[in-house]
Amino acid sequence: MTRKPAIRVTGIEKSFKDVEVLRGVDFDVEAGSIFALLGSNGAGKTTLVRILSTLLKADAGTATVHGFDVGARASDVRESISLTGQFAAVDEVLSGRENLVLIAKLRHLKGPGAIAEELLARFSLADAGDRKAATYSGGMRRRLDIAMSLIGNPPIIFLDEPTNGLDPQARIEVWQTVKKLASQGTTVLLTTQYLDEAEQLADRIAILHRGTIIQNGTLAELKKLLPAAPVEYVEKQPSLEDVFLALVGDTGETDTGGPGAITDDGTESDVQTQKEIQ
Ligand SMILES: Nc1ncnc2c1ncn2[C@@H]1O[C@H](COP(=O)(O)OP(=O)(O)OP(=O)(O)O)[C@@H](O)[C@H]1O
Ligand SMILES: [Mg+2]
Repeated sequence: MTRKPAIRVTGIEKSFKDVEVLRGVDFDVEAGSIFALLGSNGAGKTTLVRILSTLLKADAGTATVHGFDVGARASDVRESISLTGQFAAVDEVLSGRENLVLIAKLRHLKGPGAIAEELLARFSLADAGDRKAATYSGGMRRRLDIAMSLIGNPPIIFLDEPTNGLDPQARIEVWQTVKKLASQGTTVLLTTQYLDEAEQLADRIAILHRGTIIQNGTLAELKKLLPAAPVEYVEKQPSLEDVFLALVGDTGETDTGGPGAITDDGTESDVQTQKEIQ
């Protein structure tokens, strides 16, 4: 059985004055999958996301989102998606709870208070729910932003560089959130310039370079493009990220003495433990 793709992009072109940013972009995103659009700064990732979310018109080509043409059926597209932009869109004067209630009300949903409550709990923001968002850390703000975009359960979500500027624990939390969403059937298109993020999350990865998709495949398919390196005996060194996470834990809590915290007697460091596990 072939399912219709959740997103289909065909020959999309876009220039800003004489700068050709997108020169014919094509790809499909299968429903319920995580698709990563990978590209350097200025590659055109945000431009493409803005076209797919109807904020910007393409110069040529077509795109359908949830079966609707982004040009002709823009309002249907908007009802089927949510967009978490590259820069967190939370209202800093409001508390986390108030931000969520506001969006639920704007979407005319019943029980905005209960919706806010459920999302605060799901995104580990219950304790901070009544604080102004201005006092949140970058990771908390990003989680609130994603929580806001899930109100109304859109079938497709766009995440533009969802972990930009986050510390390793906050990134892992966002990754877990995204994986969970996809496992529940939401289609996720995310952009990133972090290779490990695409590697961790995506079912398929497309590389946007000089205005076109130069490769599109699963991680295994992309890895096959390079010949395997000859096997040599090398001691596996932990990456700095392994060390950092072993020292501070990957729970997102920095002060609880959770997994990976250094014990008072300081004898057994978790760096050692991590190494043993590997
Ligand atoms: N409204 C605009 N007017 C003129 N040029 C623009 C406009 N929007 C984007 N551009 C240009 O288009 C190119 C692609 O920008 P875009 O923001 O899509 O890149 P990106 O891949 O999202 O980069 P980053 O990783 O830095 O977010 C850049 O050269 C940018 O300067
Ligand atoms: Mg961008």
